[in-house]
Amino acid sequence: GRVAVLMGGRSAEREISLISGKAVLAGLQRTGIDAYGIDVSFDICHQLASGQFDRAFVVLHGRGGEDGEIQGFLQAINMPHTGSGVTASVLSMNKRISKQNWQQQGLPTARYEQVSQATDTEQLIQQLGLPLIIKPVNEGSSIGMSKVNDAETLQAAIALALKYDDDVIAEQWIQGEEYTVAILDGQALPGIRLKTPREFYDFEAKYQSNSTEYLCPCGLDLESEEQMQQLAIQAFEGLGMTGWGRIDFMRDGTGQFYLLEANSVPGMTDHSLVPMAAKQAGLDFDALVWRILETSIK
Ligand code: DAL
Ligand code: MG
Repeated sequence: GRVAVLMGGRSAEREISLISGKAVLAGLQRTGIDAYGIDVSFDICHQLASGQFDRAFVVLHGRGGEDGEIQGFLQAINMPHTGSGVTASVLSMNKRISKQNWQQQGLPTARYEQVSQATDTEQLIQQLGLPLIIKPVNEGSSIGMSKVNDAETLQAAIALALKYDDDVIAEQWIQGEEYTVAILDGQALPGIRLKTPREFYDFEAKYQSNSTEYLCPCGLDLESEEQMQQLAIQAFEGLGMTGWGRIDFMRDGTGQFYLLEANSVPGMTDHSLVPMAAKQAGLDFDALVWRILETSIK
């Protein structure tokens, strides 16, 4: 049957999604699959109706794509799709709800507070300490995030995040190493460590900088890596995610892991993390997109 590769859309991560989507489309086509790329707009009903599609490969990042919106639409028209369903997408796109969910299950995640323009910044610093990190709750690719090192810049960091989302959190800063674990069809792939000379693995470190280092194998001893992979699966399943995804971590100086966030449609550009982990596990890019597509058939 024919596969619609849904990409682009109208989120702040639109440009990244177009790159991910084109890579996925090319991979499917090289595998001999009849796939067609769609830059999703409000005209999606007509875009899909004109093509006689059997299923959708969702490569939309961020709002409208990872938050349950497109999943609900696809469910309503009875079209099978890759990735998580409506509820898991709603939960995993929202960093605050994800963290609440993990806390309730006893899984480790950094302390946080919901903040607004009216937040008492002195009290917040007493609660979480400095540095801390400000995050729009419903964004991806680190858009709108700031590390705050001193009280003077806190208010501006909150104001910046509020430009992207009216739901914003302040999170305790975990000093340590950053890791990620990709999940494919219920299994954790090898971990990746991200190393950046910047304050954290921000938008520039992710997409623009040449000085970001990716370690895969990640350098952890076997036991620690397995512990992280196990946590990733628990975090993924705890949110009800299915098919594939990616769970991001910090690890502090004592070796304690902290769940940062879940991505239900992770980046799939040529140098994205899930393809890197898949390669380490012996799956090239084309085999990976085929395996992801397969999860929509179950
Ligand atoms: N939100 C970006 C696309 C990622 O997680 O890879
Ligand atoms: Mg993300």
